[in-house]
Amino acid sequence: MNVFNKKERVSAYFSKISKRYDLMNTILSLGMHKIWKRRAVKLGRLKKGDMILDLCGGTGDISMISGKYIGPEGMIILYDINRDMINRGIIKLSKVNRNKNIHFVIGDAEFVSFFDNSFDLVFVGFGIRNLENPEKGLREIHRVLKDGGRFIFIEFSMPESGAFARLYNLYSFYIMPYLGKIIAGSKEAYTYLPQSIREFYQPHEIVELLDAVGFSDISFTKILCGVSIIYEAIKS
Ligand SMILES: C[S@@+](CC[C@H](N)C(=O)[O-])C[C@H]1O[C@@H](n2cnc3c(N)ncnc32)[C@H](O)[C@@H]1O
Repeated sequence: MNVFNKKERVSAYFSKISKRYDLMNTILSLGMHKIWKRRAVKLGRLKKGDMILDLCGGTGDISMISGKYIGPEGMIILYDINRDMINRGIIKLSKVNRNKNIHFVIGDAEFVSFFDNSFDLVFVGFGIRNLENPEKGLREIHRVLKDGGRFIFIEFSMPESGAFARLYNLYSFYIMPYLGKIIAGSKEAYTYLPQSIREFYQPHEIVELLDAVGFSDISFTKILCGVSIIYEAIKS
């Protein structure tokens, strides 16, 4: 498969599942994804007036959580390549974003349409894995962050070996695609999900990539035996 195909294919999956994306997240993670996202946002230590980029922001959970901390004087840009996912986000956030500080931009995370040094913080929730060229995305994140700005992202990973890992394999290769088919109408999208997790970098490789791109103070925290990992880094 060439690089061009992945972008189109992934976007087609998200278009297909956009209406049921939030519901599927809640079912597949037994509601835990919201707790993980809150934990990631908390690590950002947001303050009033912060400029935030929610890259690959999709239906807007991370923007929604962040919006409360930065007040009306702050601003969040929810940036995503997929119009259907963003449209779901617009509907969802119009009901809850009292500070009116969330704005929506359609665009590619590998070519972010903002000036250098624009943001205090960049969040990415389960998005880096979906990029054709994650390194390009990381370089863009580094470019648009202000000096001293923080990059926090949460991504799925493979749990360590053992009984839990075997159970997770069964769950992700059989139950996820099945639920994807009957609830979201796409077995393919939820077959791609576990495959993409397995094909993605290992945590130590991500640390090397972040370092190569120019980030410092890189760390990560494993959640649920490594099913999800929250990475943190600083543009120094
Ligand atoms: C798994 S969803 C995550 C959505 C949201 N951040 C969350 O945590 O629920 C991944 C999102 O990345 C977006 N995406 C994939 N490739 C992208 C790209 N090249 N540029 C921007 N967004 C992209 C998809 O459209 C999708 O909305």
